[in-house]
Amino acid sequence: MSLDPLSSDGFHEIPIPPPSPSCMRLVMIGDIVGKPGLRITCAAIPWLRHVLRTEIIIANAENSSDGSGIRTKDYRRLTDAGIDAITLGDHLYRKREIIDVLETAPNIIRPANLPDTAPGKSTCVVSSPNGHTVAITCALGRVFMKPVDCPFHALSRSLATIPTETRIRCVDFHAEATSDMQLMGRYLDGQVSAVLGTHTHVATADEQILPGGTGFQCDVGMTGPFESILGRKIDAVMEATLHAIPTTFQVATGNVRLNGTWFDADLESGKCVAIGRLNLSEIMLDHYNSSRASVRQLL
Ligand SMILES: [Fe+2]
Ligand SMILES: [Fe+2]
Repeated sequence: MSLDPLSSDGFHEIPIPPPSPSCMRLVMIGDIVGKPGLRITCAAIPWLRHVLRTEIIIANAENSSDGSGIRTKDYRRLTDAGIDAITLGDHLYRKREIIDVLETAPNIIRPANLPDTAPGKSTCVVSSPNGHTVAITCALGRVFMKPVDCPFHALSRSLATIPTETRIRCVDFHAEATSDMQLMGRYLDGQVSAVLGTHTHVATADEQILPGGTGFQCDVGMTGPFESILGRKIDAVMEATLHAIPTTFQVATGNVRLNGTWFDADLESGKCVAIGRLNLSEIMLDHYNSSRASVRQLL
């Protein structure tokens, strides 16, 4: 049993069963937007580890610094807090300083279907405290997005570089169109543990296990302020849209939530055996963290 993040008080019990001993539980966190997104992501990690029993936490952080790109200090903040691997999307190089990190750090990747000369690597392998390894790769969609190489062939090439003994493999497909995302799920079904979408900042309710054993969801959603237009202040986006006046789209602040998806992968086969959505409120997480702190003081 775990705390229900969807209830108004955040403490209604819902059944998220613990992972079976033959499985690893992973979480993919949807696009982290600005300071609110960074704050709730860091606050969520104790809950994800201790209540949800997550071994590996992956996050898409393409919007984590000012809503576009990621700075070195924000990469460090996320990894110091316990994020195991970071994926990126179409905004990856907006903060150019991250290029050094992309070229040197072992746990942050760029989309696979950029030019060969684009900085960074498109695949990483990270280990859990229990010694289990997980491979992560990502790619950009081509529908309603800037032209890039074919994501299907690019991901096939990336997956071919992963050691065969690493059975658990997670793909972040950063795409706009649900048809594109569904095609990628079917294309990779049976080859990877999960194909999870990011980029639209809106979670879809289609989480499922495909026939070949691949967990799938078109988009895992956004981590940041929900009182917004995709994480930005409503008034600014409204003004630019209605009156064509160029405006800075500042990151919003209200109703901060974490959207993500958990899934359990069989340690032997790598196949997905369970999957579910997360929609965590900052109020619930703050309450959980202060309860933990009170208990620690009593010990
Ligand atoms: Fe995004
Ligand atoms: Fe994006």
